[in-house]
Amino acid sequence: MSKNPVTRRQFLSYTLTGVGGFMAAGMLMPMLRFAVDPMLKAHAAGDFKMTDKKIADITSDPVRVDFKYEQQDAWYTSEVTSTAWVYKDDKGEIIALSPVCKHLGCTVSWEGSDKHPNMFFCPCHMGLYHKNGENVPGTPPRGPLDAYPTQEKDGFLMLGSPVANPFVRK
Ligand code: FES
Repeated sequence: MSKNPVTRRQFLSYTLTGVGGFMAAGMLMPMLRFAVDPMLKAHAAGDFKMTDKKIADITSDPVRVDFKYEQQDAWYTSEVTSTAWVYKDDKGEIIALSPVCKHLGCTVSWEGSDKHPNMFFCPCHMGLYHKNGENVPGTPPRGPLDAYPTQEKDGFLMLGSPVANPFVRK
């Protein structure tokens, strides 16, 4: 038998301390995550993804650019494929538009309809957008296509997270 047996009082004290600590950690973790999450999101928003599109190959005709990147969701990592419609405007600046229709989220395509040349077309409900992404009044979309911020690295196009279209005057 041990010379220093744990007394009933000590046993209860250790047990209650352990349970109390466990419960306190359970309450603090969500608060900590709530405080840290915006910082993680702000970091993600600043991330630019590399594409295989050479800047020199971009012309005034919109082309579809598909790009892949890894997305971290808590402990789960998945590969995501996204798309942009990319061209150079009259000043030579790169315009990269999201293909996600602002009506119900179908995918728009450049000159997707023979009846509407020089426009983005959504086949789901005949949505139309001008070249700068502005929605055509009288068609279902209620707002312009979002736009990707762009950067150049080693001659290749990089795209950020889509933001509200800055090319359409309000
Ligand atoms: S989803 Fe594009 S027009 Fe309806």
